[in-house]
Amino acid sequence: MRSLVAGNWKMNGLAAGLAELASLKAALAAKPPAAEVLVCPPFTLLAQAAWAVKDAFALGGQDCSPHDGGAYTGDISAAMLKDAGASYVIVGHSERRHYHGERESDVAAKTQAAWRAGLCAIICIGETESQRDAGDAHSICAGQLDASVPDTATAQNTAIAYEPVWAIGTGKTPTSADIAAMHAHIRSCLVRRLGEGAQGMRILYGGSVKPENAAEILNLPEVNGALVGGASLKAADFLNIITAFKVV
Ligand code: PGA
Repeated sequence: MRSLVAGNWKMNGLAAGLAELASLKAALAAKPPAAEVLVCPPFTLLAQAAWAVKDAFALGGQDCSPHDGGAYTGDISAAMLKDAGASYVIVGHSERRHYHGERESDVAAKTQAAWRAGLCAIICIGETESQRDAGDAHSICAGQLDASVPDTATAQNTAIAYEPVWAIGTGKTPTSADIAAMHAHIRSCLVRRLGEGAQGMRILYGGSVKPENAAEILNLPEVNGALVGGASLKAADFLNIITAFKVV
């Protein structure tokens, strides 16, 4: 399994930001990374990014419609993402769940739409702070996996991102022991449900990953990569996270 370090630019980035992708491309060409690299810019930059990056690393969308096309004003289909140069799409990010009311069934439908277009889906799960404080983090994540990961998920068409909601953009992270325990739990849920093939499905950690903590987090057992928000916007920071793999 090759680890995946994914950058989620969220609603950040104008055309000038493409210079960061050019810097990243140059740095990765000079020193090919151990991990696979993915950047998910806003929709508006995808096609230009694909042209600038020219397969030096992968590109993805941050969301997609559950529908393949039609009268859905403002929505973007998975096929449109693919057409613009994406090979991945993030689905069920906590900001989508929170601000747009996305339910587990929506996340599952978007995942199926991603697959129909030939995209790999990165399905996000994670508990809130009060759920963790109540001791419910593992059961919450198990429930999210059950309801949002379709039965036909494979290591090829799906990755899971464990992102505790309280760690996103806050500078707070769980302890290494808590991250390792959660990733082991997610792995066992996936294998129980999907079979042994799920041993090869990548489980990413996300939430306040930065250059200073990347080496410790990314080298924990069952952590097969990272989903990085704020620290992916600057090529230098993102590069420091990408190269943190296997250097502990
Ligand atoms: P953050 O965001 O790295 O800024 O905490 C992570 C995410 O939301 O994917």
